[in-house]
Amino acid sequence: MIIDISEVNFMKIGVVTSGGDCPGMNAFILELAKLCSKTDCDLIGYIGGYKGVEENNFIDLNFNSISGMSLGKRGGSILLTGRYENLKDDKKMIYLKQNLNKSGVDWLVVLGGDGSLRADKKLSDLGIKVVGVPATIDNDVKGTDYTLGFDTAINKTLKVINDIEDTASAMPGKIYIVETLGGFSGNIAKAAFDQGAADIALIPENPISDDELIKLIKEKFDRGNKYLIITICEGLEKTIYYSEFLKKALNKKVHITIIGHQQRGGNPTAYDRFVAKQFAKQTFDLIKKDISGKMVCYISGGFGNCDL
Ligand code: F6P
Repeated sequence: MIIDISEVNFMKIGVVTSGGDCPGMNAFILELAKLCSKTDCDLIGYIGGYKGVEENNFIDLNFNSISGMSLGKRGGSILLTGRYENLKDDKKMIYLKQNLNKSGVDWLVVLGGDGSLRADKKLSDLGIKVVGVPATIDNDVKGTDYTLGFDTAINKTLKVINDIEDTASAMPGKIYIVETLGGFSGNIAKAAFDQGAADIALIPENPISDDELIKLIKEKFDRGNKYLIITICEGLEKTIYYSEFLKKALNKKVHITIIGHQQRGGNPTAYDRFVAKQFAKQTFDLIKKDISGKMVCYISGGFGNCDL
């Protein structure tokens, strides 16, 4: 996508990374700063999510000063992030709007998951010009087929499973349960199954009875599996339950690996760096065209935007 930057008038853009961080947020910030540096735009970054807007706590994101920080490959967020407890408090949202107005911020760009983007929509309804950027390892934001950070999280899961498989194949006959992050969304656990790394994925979206699970596992061993890898979404809160249940029901050793927050950190994959750049370009394009209240997205195989 080539952006015509010849007609961009001075603008001040504020960026917020909200909710759980994800790999690719920094790469997005770097690309947006680069686009701004080619125009008459100032980019500032609020510290700690929406709290930064509330406290008017921000840093300049001048491309020349941040370009040497290797941001493209760093996980987390240099702006820090946070879950803002006042997302549903209309008075607080009005306060944020007033702060943005006072600081002369023309546009607010918010990276985050569903809750963070709903707050962005509220600010839009209050008259702030906004763009939302779906950014969460959970890949569960309505309106987009892909959220920034998901690919890195899947690859983390595959790496953990690959490592387990070395020992699993050396000591056959066991069952391995790998718990993934994702909140109540089973997308990460399911992706590991879809990509052939897990034999079974236990996810809230596809409930299975204990009897069905036992039948499935027995079939897999009967068909020649030397060991079994099961991914389980953390939101089910049944990792320990299944480990004890399967141990008793099948008389097999069952081992648990909980990936935890290691899943959310680390260098973004090449794909997430690519998506970060495309999302930044789409964001800047919306700002340039003065189209507010949208979320950039990846849908049906292409980058674009949809209503927040
Ligand atoms: O940002 C999404 C996510 O990483 C979920 O996958 C996970 O359940 C949750 O955040 C953990 O949040 P926190 O780090 O605030 O406990």
